[in-house]
Amino acid sequence: MKIMNAPWWARLQMMLYYCGVVICDPVFQHSEMQKIIQSKEKFDVFIVEIFSTECFLGIAHTLDIPVVVGMISSVAVPWSNDIMRNPEIPSYIPNYLSGLTDKMNFFQRIQNTWHFLYTKTFYRYFSDKPSYKIAKKYLSDNLPDFDWLRSKISLILANGHLTISPPRALAPGFKDVGGIHIPLSGPPPLPKDLQNYLDNQREDGVIYFSLGSQLDGTTMPEQVLVAFYRAFEQLPQQILWKCTEEKMPTLPRNVKCIEWAPQLSILCHPNVRMFITHGGLLGTQEAVYCGVPMLGIPLFGDQHSNVAYSVKKGLALELDYYGLSYETISSALNEMLKNKSYGEVAQRASLQFRDRPIPPVEEGVYWIEYLIRHGPDSLKIEAANLTWYQYLLLDIVCVITADDCSYVWQVPAQNRCEWVKTIHDCNTDSVFQYTELLFCTFNSDNKLLFSVGLMPMVLWLLYMFLMLGTTADNL
Ligand SMILES: *[C@@H]1O[C@H](CO)[C@@H](O)[C@H](O)[C@H]1NC(C)=O
Ligand SMILES: *[C@@H]1O[C@H](CO)[C@@H](O)[C@H](O)[C@H]1NC(C)=O
Repeated sequence: MKIMNAPWWARLQMMLYYCGVVICDPVFQHSEMQKIIQSKEKFDVFIVEIFSTECFLGIAHTLDIPVVVGMISSVAVPWSNDIMRNPEIPSYIPNYLSGLTDKMNFFQRIQNTWHFLYTKTFYRYFSDKPSYKIAKKYLSDNLPDFDWLRSKISLILANGHLTISPPRALAPGFKDVGGIHIPLSGPPPLPKDLQNYLDNQREDGVIYFSLGSQLDGTTMPEQVLVAFYRAFEQLPQQILWKCTEEKMPTLPRNVKCIEWAPQLSILCHPNVRMFITHGGLLGTQEAVYCGVPMLGIPLFGDQHSNVAYSVKKGLALELDYYGLSYETISSALNEMLKNKSYGEVAQRASLQFRDRPIPPVEEGVYWIEYLIRHGPDSLKIEAANLTWYQYLLLDIVCVITADDCSYVWQVPAQNRCEWVKTIHDCNTDSVFQYTELLFCTFNSDNKLLFSVGLMPMVLWLLYMFLMLGTTADNL
């Protein structure tokens, strides 16, 4: 709850800290980890989580491990895209934390661009900086910087899939293996009592309700709990709620509390009609795998984006946590139970989610072994070796614009505007005649004004730098 109510900048800062930086010291200090670091043993592959910190990345360098593989338990996080040089265009790729989908209007694209900028900047400040300090303390004072270490990553395996996050262009070294946690043999069998309970609801079905491990019924404000109770009471369906019965006010007759839920097996039971969820990634994957429509109540992190995409696909409805009332809950439940289209879309998504050339876990293994067979660079694109200004062709831009236009500084100040207008290279080729604007409107005589005129260009360069990033070169 604390994290939900925090302002946007503090939310990301907290995520980077509590899901990342805070784990570095204890893991490095762990005796097993110390043993490994000091062992000088030879390893072929180093698999490391890329989520909110890169503090463990240097271990591969210390132990001289040739193949480094990054794993992400969520879909591609913004800072992971730079590593493999995934195209990262905010016009259609929604930022992880934006709560947007791939279809954005003008204002949403502004919002999305803003999310891109600050997430990447924050990552460098609030994750890289403290993490690097900790990594140096445990590994070596001469540890190469993170940009260099990141350039040694050969492959990233992320937890996305077309059906649960917007499709996007990915570099060959970046593989989406979403649903990797789902057993190849399908959902394990249910405990006997749950199996009987679910089997017996053939007529009206069951609504499964879980807001994950962070939020159970007992921490909800009382009026929200009452609203859920009232809405549930009026349904013919049974509600299977992941909660602790002793801590809840007396439950309506059709609500059953279970403290621990074998979620995948429940969702895949044919009598389950709907999943009320906070929109966590794994729960979303499980619902899509089983073909169950969702009523999403996202709380924080990527949950807003996950739910938004399911809503766009037509297999979910979204409820705002702060707008929860009897009316909103009841109308969403009724719409979803009456309108068959959510279930049908969910069924089709399930077929698509399962339709793969090889199961995700085998695909992950395949690509790791591929690197061992063909070398650590075998999936990389040359873009990873370019510096940021080469990657963005800024060096070419400089050479072209410097060609004739640089003489402008040898022309007396009062004549510069006229001169720029007459020189072809300074002027006529650009759609937006920026040089003319600079020298005529902003006037190079007035340093202050001129600097203001230069600002858009400087900001543009900064934007390109942050957006398309750099990993291979040492800044
Ligand atoms: C059912 O829901 C879909 C998707 O939201 C919508 O397009 C359709 O009009 C709805 N049908 C009815 C009968 O309300
Ligand atoms: C990047 O440069 C290094 C060093 O020159 C080279 O070994 C590597 O193969 C290059 N990477 C790619 C993807 O070509």
